[in-house]
Amino acid sequence: MKITILGLGYVGFPLACAIAKKTSHELKGYDISQKKIDLIKSGKSPVDDSQAEEDIKSIKIDASCDDAIMDGSDIYIVCVPTPVIDGYTPNLDPVKSALKTISKFLKKGQIVIIESTINPGVCDEIAVPYLEELTGLKINADFDVAHCPERINPGDEKWNVYNIPRNIGSTSQTATHKAANLYREFISGVVNEMPDLKTTEATKIIENTFRDINIAFVNELAKSFDVLGINLDIVIKAAANKPFAFMAHYPSCGVGGHCIPVDPYYLIERAKQSGFDHKFLKLAREINNSMPHYTVEQLSIQLNELGLPLKGTKVALLGMSYKANVGDLRESPAIEIQNLLLQRGVSLNIFDPYFLEISTHNSLDEILDDSTAVVISSNHREFTEMKIEQLLEKNVTVVIDGKNCLNDSFMTTDKLIYKGIGR
Ligand SMILES: NC(=O)c1ccc[n+]([C@@H]2O[C@H](COP(=O)([O-])OP(=O)(O)OC[C@H]3O[C@@H](n4cnc5c(N)ncnc54)[C@H](O)[C@@H]3O)[C@@H](O)[C@H]2O)c1
Repeated sequence: MKITILGLGYVGFPLACAIAKKTSHELKGYDISQKKIDLIKSGKSPVDDSQAEEDIKSIKIDASCDDAIMDGSDIYIVCVPTPVIDGYTPNLDPVKSALKTISKFLKKGQIVIIESTINPGVCDEIAVPYLEELTGLKINADFDVAHCPERINPGDEKWNVYNIPRNIGSTSQTATHKAANLYREFISGVVNEMPDLKTTEATKIIENTFRDINIAFVNELAKSFDVLGINLDIVIKAAANKPFAFMAHYPSCGVGGHCIPVDPYYLIERAKQSGFDHKFLKLAREINNSMPHYTVEQLSIQLNELGLPLKGTKVALLGMSYKANVGDLRESPAIEIQNLLLQRGVSLNIFDPYFLEISTHNSLDEILDDSTAVVISSNHREFTEMKIEQLLEKNVTVVIDGKNCLNDSFMTTDKLIYKGIGR
């Protein structure tokens, strides 16, 4: 078969690598970003993902910004972004734009698979009518639309595009089976055939809303336990030794990335259109969105203990990325923390080894030399391995650990003020 992947980012590129590496299908990659295509052509991964960086060394991917590359494809796989605008309004424009591109080439017998995260109803209510209108073809009789939601967790050392189980549903049983068989060629995990598109779309959305709600629960507990003087970190770890019915989630300075802070809005907004108000999901979003502000408040409180104001104090913001050991700024709470600190007149220093271009200092050593207080907003290895002595030597007096990633010795020292989130 000829397979074209549209969107070669964190989802599309590892998928392209897997298909190129494990199957004998003719693979094409299409992206609107010339920068990404140039990287791929030069043999480099366009995303910060160790598995993809390894894969690209042993395969060649025929990628282009010219859509003619997809002419004659049997299967088109859509892996474009599904962001929100204004912080919460779902924006399906990239998906529609990818479908419009496909419509120029779509012919009888072909399948369009959407991997992007979409709310229940997008395939049936938007993708299918849109493709029918643009092509004059008829769903089932001429072409099929399938949904195989991606679950990849970039940077995960255990779970990747080769072993994460998948769910797939489509407009016909035959197409579901055909698409599922393609995934079975490169995935060792289960590829589960779903009854229809809507239930498949709903599956992915509940996976991520589940995470958002549980994180909101522990973030709220962190605020409550800070008042009660209870170390939430110890409590969660103890509760987690129950061998059933408890799943540990941990509080932090905020939720980032392209999925968890975004996907719940797709369900909230679609349910609203049908007259249902998702109060619980909205509250979870509100709590998680409040954590950067809470983190800055903790800094203000601890500086006050030393008679220092936020305004004018030299503060080191350690990490801009939303997750450990990768350079990914999408929806990063560090950006909100940065803005809040600047609004409060802090003399702000920034260091992230993955983003030297937006850092004010070139190394951890340099930034600590130049700062009175530290806020950890990414748990990059370099930061989690910091020692008390290192900070004392640089005269750092306050540490706000937004990721609760420093070791327990920070909790017991009286040589500097340490405050985690609920810890
Ligand atoms: N990043 C993750 O961890 C993750 C995990 C599971 C699911 N998802 C979902 O997968 C989808 C893609 O996410 P991502 O992280 O790969 O995004 P990304 O931003 O890393 O990559 C998307 C790519 O699509 C390209 N693109 C945009 N519009 C296009 C168009 N019309 N035609 C062709 N290419 C186009 C962009 O240039 C970009 O290279 C989203 O719906 C996301 O929610 C992401």
